[in-house]
Amino acid sequence: MVEEILSYLITKKDGVYVDCTAGEGGHIKAILEFTNSKAKIIGVDVDYEVLEIAEQRLKDLSDNVVLIKSSYKDIDIVLRGLDIDKVDGFLMDLGVSTFQLKGENRGFTFTKDEPLDMRMDTEAKKDAAYIVNNYSQEELRRIIFEYGEEKRFAYSISKSIIKSRPINTTQDLVSAIRKGLPSSITHDRHRHFATKTFQALRIEVNEELKNIEETLVKFENFLNTGARVAVISFHSLEDRIIKNFFKNNERYNFLTPKPILPSQEEIKYNSRSRSAKLRVAEYIGV
Ligand SMILES: C[S@@+](CC[C@H](N)C(=O)[O-])C[C@H]1O[C@@H](n2cnc3c(N)ncnc32)[C@H](O)[C@@H]1O
Repeated sequence: MVEEILSYLITKKDGVYVDCTAGEGGHIKAILEFTNSKAKIIGVDVDYEVLEIAEQRLKDLSDNVVLIKSSYKDIDIVLRGLDIDKVDGFLMDLGVSTFQLKGENRGFTFTKDEPLDMRMDTEAKKDAAYIVNNYSQEELRRIIFEYGEEKRFAYSISKSIIKSRPINTTQDLVSAIRKGLPSSITHDRHRHFATKTFQALRIEVNEELKNIEETLVKFENFLNTGARVAVISFHSLEDRIIKNFFKNNERYNFLTPKPILPSQEEIKYNSRSRSAKLRVAEYIGV
């Protein structure tokens, strides 16, 4: 959806744009190619390792780019630190990056056996192992039910997690989840039975939903009139927050009440994009 992102986000070729989830710098590179030499791009990511990759990738283009290690929830501090009062667009591409999924010992995926970490910010205190070994059964049930949208088996999975302690690795967790599910689910070939619980824990570890809400509120202090906010989400919990925020906010013109979805062709070469939704709003001021 890069073309759609650029055409919605970039209203001025010499504008100031903030990529709140710089990742490996793919979107920043595309923005640089689409804007002119006066444009300025601030890239923020909470993960040092991905930022290093972005830095390498952008090093020949980097005069107009500043990369900062920070959570987007501190975007106000980041921008004030750079003496930036107003910007022309904020971009958020939520969720986990390919690098984080494939990276060594990050613990995001049930397809490997590694320490159960899942922190995007490797300096953060609370990892997924801490949560599964210390939260109460009711807290675990709620997280799996709400953030994993695991409506039927949240209780039995949480019970099995408590019984299976200590849980130190991704495969310890997979086997605890397996024990909490009927075999009709563990043998489902279409969707891995651990998907929902892994999603739930990742959201809890990184406080993803809370951070999105807190960040959206901060944007308007920095937006020029006519500036855009573009957000790509990957599951309905995120999309609901974004949709409701813009729908109910008079200071924005919600440009995509119906989200923009990837084409069939994009899904074919990037299967992760199949659940992506792009929403864009224009700041019209008070
Ligand atoms: C889907 S990836 C972005 C990929 C990027 N658009 C690119 O083109 O390479 C999401 C990124 O958001 C980052 N992230 C997640 N939570 C964050 C937060 N609270 N603050 C800043 N970055 C965050 C992750 O570390 C990850 O690199």
